[in-house]
Amino acid sequence: MKKILGILLCLALAAGFAFANGSAEKTETGSGKLVVGFAQIGQESGWRDAETASLQWYASRNIDTIELHFADAQQKQENQIKAIRSFIDMGVDVIGLAPVVETGWDAVLMEVKEAGIPVIFLDREADVDDSLYATFIGSDFILEGQNAAVEMGRLLNGKGKIVELEGTVGASVANDRKAGFDDTIAKQFPGIEILGSQTGDFNRAKGKEVMESFLKTYGSEIKGVYGHNDDMVLGAIEAIKEAGLKPGKDIVTVSIDGVKGVFEAMAAGEANVTVECNPLLAPQFFQAAADLKAGKTLPRWIKSDEGIYRADTAAKDLPTRQY
Ligand code: AHR
Repeated sequence: MKKILGILLCLALAAGFAFANGSAEKTETGSGKLVVGFAQIGQESGWRDAETASLQWYASRNIDTIELHFADAQQKQENQIKAIRSFIDMGVDVIGLAPVVETGWDAVLMEVKEAGIPVIFLDREADVDDSLYATFIGSDFILEGQNAAVEMGRLLNGKGKIVELEGTVGASVANDRKAGFDDTIAKQFPGIEILGSQTGDFNRAKGKEVMESFLKTYGSEIKGVYGHNDDMVLGAIEAIKEAGLKPGKDIVTVSIDGVKGVFEAMAAGEANVTVECNPLLAPQFFQAAADLKAGKTLPRWIKSDEGIYRADTAAKDLPTRQY
């Protein structure tokens, strides 16, 4: 994925796009193109890389009609805010934002509103007044958590002790995936106990670190691990193996995203279930941006379609996965 991203990046640079870390250069508007500024979170997971690649690939394929200004905020809200302000200075038509955390956006989004630029939240939401954004395009994260809980209940026959690897603290997606999962476990599977729940920041290395500490504390009491994303569970699988246990058997796994790495782990019998979260959002995103530029009103929430994938079909599913 990194390689693909590199190629896409060169393509886009050659095509004259402006890329920056938290800021963007002045641009000529009035070209008739749809000029979009996108403030991305960072590169914390394979899922995020796939979303970025989807946006950059789509823009590079539509270079006659789309001008994309892309900023990678390296997982810092302050960098996203800086990027948004630079998009205002440029006078872009539409601003896209994947908010790294839920709160702290009111002031900058008020500035965007005053500049008359519509905002699309892509894949994550922010806790702001409805008047500060035009639409949210993305998944139902609570439902993803609920689906993950049902899968965990099925794998453990409703009984056993588990641990939870949470996403970034304060991110809407982490809050919702936790709420959906924990509530469903409590209501539908009273025989399942969540021994510990800690953030691994959606990141493989941190997921491994947290799992190591869970294993030190609870050892073979742990029968399942739920990760708010696949990358953290891939890290947890390494920790489980290093502890001399068998992932996928001694400790079952349920995670969210559907990246290729977890399909490989499922095909190898080391992971059990992934609940899909679709990062290939570019077609919906640019369509919404074009509609907003044309003055249309959009639904408050444009949902993405997603499935659930299990170990028994992983080898067959793997070649069809796009991220
Ligand atoms: O907002 C979507 C989440 O962000 C993905 O599930 C996770 O992998 C990513 O980092």
